[in-house]
Amino acid sequence: MFSFDPYSPAIDADPFPYYKTLRDEYPCFWSPEAEMWILSRYADIVSAGQNAEIYSSASGNLMTELPGRAGATLGTTDAPRHDRLRALVQHAFMKRNLEGLTEPIRAIARDAAESLRGQKQFDFITEFSSKFTVRVLIAALGLPTGTEATVSEATVRDKAVLMVQSDPVTRAKGPEHIAAYNWMQDYAAGVIKERRANPRNDLISHFSTAEIDGDRLDEREVLLTTTTLIMAGIESLGGFMSMFAVNMAEFADARRQCVANPALLVDAVEESLRFNTSAQRFRRRLMTDVTLHGQTMKQGDFVCLAYGSGNRDERQYPNPDVYDIGRKPRGHLGFGGGVHACLGSAIARLAIKIAFEEFHKVFPDYERAQQQLAWMPSSTFRSPLQLVLSVG
Ligand code: HEM
Repeated sequence: MFSFDPYSPAIDADPFPYYKTLRDEYPCFWSPEAEMWILSRYADIVSAGQNAEIYSSASGNLMTELPGRAGATLGTTDAPRHDRLRALVQHAFMKRNLEGLTEPIRAIARDAAESLRGQKQFDFITEFSSKFTVRVLIAALGLPTGTEATVSEATVRDKAVLMVQSDPVTRAKGPEHIAAYNWMQDYAAGVIKERRANPRNDLISHFSTAEIDGDRLDEREVLLTTTTLIMAGIESLGGFMSMFAVNMAEFADARRQCVANPALLVDAVEESLRFNTSAQRFRRRLMTDVTLHGQTMKQGDFVCLAYGSGNRDERQYPNPDVYDIGRKPRGHLGFGGGVHACLGSAIARLAIKIAFEEFHKVFPDYERAQQQLAWMPSSTFRSPLQLVLSVG
């Protein structure tokens, strides 16, 4: 008897055979363990993303939601509130202007890679991607740094990661996850206060003062949006970078091509977002009954959109289990899709490309030193807790 529990640690280790069975035999599957429907085919997930009035995010989009987020942030609201929040935050992203971040990001990547020069083996996550992502987010968002900082970069990063994790066994949010979320809100409140008093060219300054036709974000919206951006930015970017490093270590030919011609990193990143995105599964709630593949899902039911499965759907991508940097997978779901598609995709693409250009200058050749990876306890995201690389 087939079962699929998205909260099970076995799924983290290798979700792909489960996804294949779901797509082929149970494309609209009721998981009694998770008490939700699982949609696994590309076309169904895309359609759900495009029909947000039916597939609502307002009850929370994380598979295990944090208290107080539902109905209040970009990822957890529906139109018209979501349209308004998104327009105001997008406005801030435009004002911050990505071009201006290119050189700071390169300097951060170069420093992080150079600090490892001469080492033979290290944990890519603690020694490179964590340091890199938190510094990039500090630069983009405008979090305090240097003598202005009252807490360390490592603390901000650790709290962001804890926020997306769940208890490894129950998959519920434990006291430490809730405490990290509360900590992050207090931290964000302090930064917002300071940036409102002394605005600069950074995202927090821009969106805490953003105004369209006289409309501004209110206090709670600014606070929860900042908290979400810190979490989404640090965790998603760091998690995906480690998945990308897993691919580059495993598919040595692809890596050699990227080392020889760094422009190919753009294609390799897109293929990795398709092949094994860190953002595997998100949740929606039905606003009306929907019948799909002979199953009737009821209004109020929860539905899991398994982006990681849609990306491996043979109905959309030929030979989906082959990692091919020449594929150029249009319309992949690595950043989700529809009205809630990732707002940070442009900065994420830029940051990852620069990070690996600089990393490969110092370390053109590497492989995984561990046979088995231990996975982060999360039913939404999938990335390793540790990734030890042997460099040669
Ligand atoms: C490679 C790294 C990243 C991946 C794989 C990723 C993935 C995703 C996915 C799949 C969604 C859709 C969630 C849903 O369907 O409910 C999403 C939404 C979002 N992401 Fe990202 N993300 C990344 C980086 C970032 C960064 C760096 C930021 C911010 C600086 C960010 C901010 C957001 C926000 C604000 C949303 C909500 C958008 C909305 O609901 O309108 N993400 N991301």
